[in-house]
Amino acid sequence: MKIIDKKQLAPEIMQFLVEAPLIAKKAQPGHFIILRHRENGERIPLTIADFDREKGTITLVCQGIGKSTREINQMQVGDSFIDLLGPLGKAYPIKKLGTVVCVAGGLGVAPLYPKAKALYEAGNKVISLIGAQRKEMLIMTEEMAAISAEMHFSTDDGSFGHHGFITEPLRAVLAREKVDEVVAVGPVPMMASAVKVAQEFNVPVVVSLNALMIDGTGMCGGCRVTVGGETKFCCVDGPTFDGATVDFQEILMRQRYYRDQEEEAIHRCKLEEAEQQ
Ligand code: FES
Repeated sequence: MKIIDKKQLAPEIMQFLVEAPLIAKKAQPGHFIILRHRENGERIPLTIADFDREKGTITLVCQGIGKSTREINQMQVGDSFIDLLGPLGKAYPIKKLGTVVCVAGGLGVAPLYPKAKALYEAGNKVISLIGAQRKEMLIMTEEMAAISAEMHFSTDDGSFGHHGFITEPLRAVLAREKVDEVVAVGPVPMMASAVKVAQEFNVPVVVSLNALMIDGTGMCGGCRVTVGGETKFCCVDGPTFDGATVDFQEILMRQRYYRDQEEEAIHRCKLEEAEQQ
């Protein structure tokens, strides 16, 4: 579980290539891992953004937004994670559908990429739409371009591509092209909007939910979501679900539960970092 390569993708977003042959052997698009970076460390779920079975490596992408993720992003080539659990979750079923529009917002490109790559390898035409706050926050664009027939970008500040939300280019693509499925991954409001747009055109849409997780094995209930009126656990039933059946309002509400504690932890972390300098 040693880090064998590390690359900065954007401010506060790092990509790690990690030696994990047993996980690489079984990984499928849609799977994730839970890692601890040190003794007594928090359990952090990260998507498997790519894997190489022959080399025995997996790719992880981490955004330093909390205390633990900021510490992880300080780790260097040669360092090892203390434990890495996976692959977890249900694999996203790959089929030859025809044309698939892959929509990602922010860090959502990391979980989207292995799905988009597998869809491309299965013979689908992949149209990719990638959005971010600003140009330098767009990540994995070369990897996505390599498997996409078309690429469209949007930024919140207009610094690259369409000025506004990525759902606007999505509506334009769906208006002009027969699309067989939309795959949307990113912040919850973005996925909720992408589902609404896909439904306007009667196109099936799948989403990948990033609920709070603790054990990752279906025991704690921390990652519960309501899908089709039933309680599901993201870690064992997902994280990929039929977007049309997901209760996004409930997910947004649950994400707000721990905001105060998270802000407090980030504040303490920044103070510690400042003291160390
Ligand atoms: S993370 Fe505990 S049930 Fe899913």
